[in-house]
Amino acid sequence: MDNTPTPHIGARKGEIADTVIMAGDPLRVKFMAENYLDNPVLFNQVRGMLGYTGTHDGRRISVMGHGMGGPSIGIYTYELFNFYDVQTIVRVGSAGAIQEDLHVGDLVIATGACTNSNYAAQYELTGTFAPVADFGLARRAVEACERLGYRHQVGNVLSSDFFYDANAHNDRWQRMGVLAIEMEIAQLYMNAAYASTQRSEFSNRSTKRALGICTVSDHLLTGEATTAEERQTTFTKMMDVAFAITCGK
Ligand code: HPA
Repeated sequence: MDNTPTPHIGARKGEIADTVIMAGDPLRVKFMAENYLDNPVLFNQVRGMLGYTGTHDGRRISVMGHGMGGPSIGIYTYELFNFYDVQTIVRVGSAGAIQEDLHVGDLVIATGACTNSNYAAQYELTGTFAPVADFGLARRAVEACERLGYRHQVGNVLSSDFFYDANAHNDRWQRMGVLAIEMEIAQLYMNAAYASTQRSEFSNRSTKRALGICTVSDHLLTGEATTAEERQTTFTKMMDVAFAITCGK
């Protein structure tokens, strides 16, 4: 059944590539379309959530906004995975660091995403689900950072429902080794897991793949922060990595 266009994405199936690089801010998506894509074609502007399809190094790829917070990325990635046959989604975003040895501009490759959100309740599990990245994408991201000489750390992030948190306990998450706080990766990983189907135990496994890569935009312990100008230059590093791992030869 063709469910496209959806309530939130004004594109027909086929207008979106099987791989989508996403950012919260639609203007950052426009920047990626203008600087990383050849022949970008706009496929969505519903709610201003810009999406483009073009090519990078000859490979067809899309870029799209996902807005702020779990519910917003939850809607867009659900529709992309389930109604547009998207196989791979890489989020590039900002995060606040909570470890001393992370600095503004460093990249965080989120192999895991803790959360204080109730998003997993919909699956009615009898325990706690651990949202994890696709291992292949994470490994390629690490290799790309090493090759490009980009400072990076690999590990857990906290996908928080709160930017303004009346009861933040960053010290407790820090003690558990969580690297940084952002707001969307756990929901992305849960949608990827839930959209993956296992048709039989041994064959036909269709796995949706997801990875979150963050740039540290501010440090929640030291108060270190990026200027608007620094943001623009440091943010291109995670985009370089995202395109390298999805379009690399
Ligand atoms: N909290 C949540 N998301 C963020 C932060 C933060 O402190 N910094 C950048 N993205």
